[in-house]
Amino acid sequence: MSTPVGVAAANTTPSTPFDIHGFDAIVFAVGNAFQSAHFFATAFGMSPVAYRGPETGSPDECSYVLRSGTACFVVTGAARAGTELGEYVHHHGDGVVDVALSVSDVGAAYDHALAQGARGLAEPHRTGDGDGTVMLASIAAYGRVRHTFVDRSRYRGAHLPGYTSAPFAMSGAAVPYFQAVDHCVAAVEAGRMDEWVDFYQRVFGFDTMAEFVDGEISTKFSALRSRVVADPRRQVKFPVVEPAQSARHSQVDEFLQFYGGPGVQHVALATDDILAAIDGMRAGGVEFLPTPDSYYDDPGLLDRMGPITTPVAELARRGALVDRDEHGHLLQILTRPPQDRPTGFFELIERHGSQGFGVGNFAALFQAIEREQDRRGNL
Ligand SMILES: [Fe+2]
Repeated sequence: MSTPVGVAAANTTPSTPFDIHGFDAIVFAVGNAFQSAHFFATAFGMSPVAYRGPETGSPDECSYVLRSGTACFVVTGAARAGTELGEYVHHHGDGVVDVALSVSDVGAAYDHALAQGARGLAEPHRTGDGDGTVMLASIAAYGRVRHTFVDRSRYRGAHLPGYTSAPFAMSGAAVPYFQAVDHCVAAVEAGRMDEWVDFYQRVFGFDTMAEFVDGEISTKFSALRSRVVADPRRQVKFPVVEPAQSARHSQVDEFLQFYGGPGVQHVALATDDILAAIDGMRAGGVEFLPTPDSYYDDPGLLDRMGPITTPVAELARRGALVDRDEHGHLLQILTRPPQDRPTGFFELIERHGSQGFGVGNFAALFQAIEREQDRRGNL
């Protein structure tokens, strides 16, 4: 089920129509918010900070808010039968419903978005409680994903009005495994990537910071195309991916099929210690995609990578990958999808100057994903 977008608007010149500070929150619709919150606390090391539900005046939904540095996840489940959220999860499984963005001026962001052809879902409105007020407005994006613009500069509560900072029995890691959301990937139908790139250029004033279109992201079996849009300060990065012609089903085909349409394919989490993050998350039960030994035995690896601060043996022990661009290097690893469907997953990324997304690892990463697809019978 996709959202119609007006692609006819003429102005595609990148500009900064309104201030975007960064990701405010990633909101997930899930089948069981209590258990998802428990997973993100115990396995991802995130700290539960706020809750709302029937006890706090939200009869339809339970939401838990978890933080790790500036990264904020909200997991929301239906608290009764017959809700829209319940229908969403029935159709799509667990997944991201809102990529909320922190802005200075919610009204200006919303007005600009609608003037550029975005579909409004919630007009700018102020909501408050004893801890202050928050300005919110929402627009539709790809599939059933929305973007909520948030200005919480006049709010000091735990999350939003209606939430309580009630004590939690679950707790996160003593030292957070990751500190921020690095990027958030949109998986869209074949042939629609450029339309959504255009949407982010017009509606958000983003520019294209990278593109991988013809043959760069392909293996013997499958191919995909990707362009990355971002705000000028690179606080918010949205790679958009679509399947390309290939012999078998690509990972994007698999996502679209099992999710039942476009959605957020993965959320990358920025860490300053990927080795500790992998160890902690693996001890908590997170499964990472295995990397073959041949990746590290490749004599060309260190030639391509140049000096890196982390010993290759330590990376190899954990299956972490390394890549370099003209600005520096990065370390990365992908999780297996942490829910029943082979849909959304997570990435850990430790950047040392590199502004890339691991193009040098695409072949290794995608072959690892294809081995998993093959195990599921979906290649
Ligand atoms: Fe990524």
